[in-house]
Amino acid sequence: MIANTIEDNRQRQCFEGVSSVWLFGYGSLIYKVDFPFLEQRAASIEGWARRFWQGSHDHRGTPQAPGRVVTLVEQPGARCRGMAYRVAPEVFTHLDEREKNGYLRFTTAMQFDDGTRCDGLVYIATADNSAFLGPADDLDIARQIDTAEGPSGPNRDYLLQLADALRSLGDDDHHVFTLETLLSWTPADA
Ligand code: SIN
Repeated sequence: MIANTIEDNRQRQCFEGVSSVWLFGYGSLIYKVDFPFLEQRAASIEGWARRFWQGSHDHRGTPQAPGRVVTLVEQPGARCRGMAYRVAPEVFTHLDEREKNGYLRFTTAMQFDDGTRCDGLVYIATADNSAFLGPADDLDIARQIDTAEGPSGPNRDYLLQLADALRSLGDDDHHVFTLETLLSWTPADA
């Protein structure tokens, strides 16, 4: 079911007197940068794993045929690689609209490639949001991604672009790369 987190996100952090905020992106925010930023750095966060468990009814699917996009799930020992952006607080007005289907802003500790650490915000769609789809068999996830399409384009492009972006970051995300391989095996592509 479609969600709308815009109001919730507005209440979550106070940006008064703050000139810039770090944002950690791990999904489309890595490769679709449709917002201004002051600085950009590859980064990782610990204890979280990227999973195609969130429904997309607004970007890569429709309310009738939702697609699947990534969220983060807690996993001790896991490390999620992504891209951090230092942005002006006003940028969150646009980002909240873009991520409104179930994502909430949380504070996270990030580690940059030079080993330095910093706190940032990250959009996570938790299991209690109404657009959450949860785990499924990898082949079923790949099939759903292969067929879904929404206003932002085919769901398969989301997966393929994310996989490419992660390769560029030197990441080895087994979940994402397994789905990418399965995508080329799905019947629609045969
Ligand atoms: C993110 O990229 O950090 C959030 C999920 C998405 O928009 O794909």
